[in-house]
Amino acid sequence: MTGMNYIIENQKESLRLKQQNSLPQYSVEDELHLLNLDLNGKNVLDAGCGVGTLAKMIKSKYHSRVSGCDASELRIKEAQKGSKGLIDFFVADLTNLPFQEAQFDVIFIRFVLEHTLTPKDILNEAIRVLRPGGKLVIIDLDGLIFNLHHESPILKDQLSHLYNNLPIDLFIGRKLPRMISEIGLKLSECHVVPMLFRDTDLDCEIDNMIMRFNQSESIIKSIIGEDVFNDFMNTYISEMKKSEVHFCNKFIVTAIKN
Ligand SMILES: C[S@@+](CC[C@H](N)C(=O)[O-])C[C@H]1O[C@@H](n2cnc3c(N)ncnc32)[C@H](O)[C@@H]1O
Repeated sequence: MTGMNYIIENQKESLRLKQQNSLPQYSVEDELHLLNLDLNGKNVLDAGCGVGTLAKMIKSKYHSRVSGCDASELRIKEAQKGSKGLIDFFVADLTNLPFQEAQFDVIFIRFVLEHTLTPKDILNEAIRVLRPGGKLVIIDLDGLIFNLHHESPILKDQLSHLYNNLPIDLFIGRKLPRMISEIGLKLSECHVVPMLFRDTDLDCEIDNMIMRFNQSESIIKSIIGEDVFNDFMNTYISEMKKSEVHFCNKFIVTAIKN
């Protein structure tokens, strides 16, 4: 699986994704509303579907054929729960999809590209299985942990190490429009949706951030040092609480295959 840096078989990651998708700032329903696509009669793929939140929402709103795939067996098992077999969920590597060319009318790639340093491998494979005239919808965050305002010199140093060494791209959002033209697609829409967390939503985002850090513990330790992981996480979370609000931009980009 080229360039994949993700904790694949971690049951807690399914819980985190469910918790994340239940927050209004991450609402797949709002994203679909904003895109205003007519998916009726379409063959749709949710590529890197995680626990299947988006695929299930599409199936509930449109008369479409929906498939969802992910590298994680655990997450696909979770996605299959409650789908009553109406959605074809299967395990697959997004850089090597088990399909002939030009099968899908619409492909969604949501919160996936940030987990790789070789996003074009995934995008080129998506283009291969997209039919001419078909749409690619990419949704990704920009900034995430680096948006925190704080006044700790130690944390600043640790975040700078993470910025330079994390094997993921937490600024993928802003790169999407240019990347789309570089791979030969036509940019159709680009939305930047600010996500603002306050009060109980901030509490939930803090819980989610703790899960993100815990699930990435070994990667973070390898960059900032084993012994300082707990201090890093505690300082980050206490600064997040002091900030009163947390924010992140969500890019929602659509592109058309000629
Ligand atoms: C943050 S989750 C997002 C899941 C879902 N799209 C959502 O919006 O909730 C990223 C997912 O991408 C999957 N993924 C990352 N790289 C992949 C690859 N090369 N092939 C298949 N799945 C991949 C991971 O297993 C994970 O479930």
